[in-house]
Amino acid sequence: SRSPNPIKTSLSLVDELLQLETQAKEDCGQATSPEALESVRIKYLGRKGQLQELTSKLKTANPEEKPQAGKEANRIKNALQGIFDEKAKSLGQRPRTVSGGPKKDLTMPGTVKPIGGRHPITQVTDEICDIFKRLGFIAVSGPEMESEHYNFEALNIPKEHPSRDELDTFYLENGLLLRSQTSTVQIRVMEHEKPPLKVIAPGRVYRPDATDATHSFMFHQIEGLMVDERVSFADLKGVLLSFAHEFFGKDVRLRFRPHFFPFTEPSAEVDISCGICKGEGCRSCGKKGWLEILGAGMVHPNVLRAVKISPEKYTGFAFGLGVERIAMLRWGVKDIRLFYENDLRFLKQFS
Ligand code: PHE
Repeated sequence: SRSPNPIKTSLSLVDELLQLETQAKEDCGQATSPEALESVRIKYLGRKGQLQELTSKLKTANPEEKPQAGKEANRIKNALQGIFDEKAKSLGQRPRTVSGGPKKDLTMPGTVKPIGGRHPITQVTDEICDIFKRLGFIAVSGPEMESEHYNFEALNIPKEHPSRDELDTFYLENGLLLRSQTSTVQIRVMEHEKPPLKVIAPGRVYRPDATDATHSFMFHQIEGLMVDERVSFADLKGVLLSFAHEFFGKDVRLRFRPHFFPFTEPSAEVDISCGICKGEGCRSCGKKGWLEILGAGMVHPNVLRAVKISPEKYTGFAFGLGVERIAMLRWGVKDIRLFYENDLRFLKQFS
């Protein structure tokens, strides 16, 4: 028979949920360490926690109660999550998601680490050396701190030569000097290796020049040396022309002007036709139509003798080109100092 005065024998789902909320808040408030808080969190919000247990009862709940219970379950879940996060922060722990993982937005872009680029002087040096390597030259290097022997004596530069003056070479207190030219490497190579020889030697050189738009106390040269039987001035011209065509383009022309170097005879300064006016003369080349890029000549017999190579049997050519000069021509850089200031606004244009 039906009871005339029906009383509720069990709590409704909504009531159970509200009770859980109260209890959870209380337990949360009592947690005094991140560890304790975490076990409270798992007890209520964990995957097998009490809230989950009540929520699973929703499926079988009475249809009148269902919508409200569902809403409450959601509200309580969010409310508790917020309260636990606050508490975690106050206990010095990073907030956690319901699933327990750290809060990370995997859709955020990653941290980009700039990898840098090669300095324009390095780029030009490598490019020039690569061309000579394809012509059969081997790249070598020598020290920047040198003796007078390698920088002058063995290169047939007499004591009274102006370049040996204190005002034109950096002399060090240890009796050595900072090389003023890469021609030192010619001597170092020929001391140890005998012809046939084909080498290039890139590197830094130093001169106590006053710094301005076209001068620096330190700059870069690339030395070239070829020694063999019957090497002629024609070989020098051929090698330099191949290089110029490869580096500057097929329509560039070379001009050899007679010059003097103590370590080559005959000697020449070599110009390329101005890339802008093609030799007509313009502002860029100072109305000359030509731009000097290197010094060259046939290795002087005295130099060969200094390294015990017979000038009767062997001949050779040598050249030394200025890297900054060529880099400035290539990119239209008007001030050499830009290469050394480490200003990223300048350098980034070359990477
Ligand atoms: N060493 C010379 C200079 O610095 C250049 C050069 C190298 C000239 C080799 C002739 C041969 O000016």
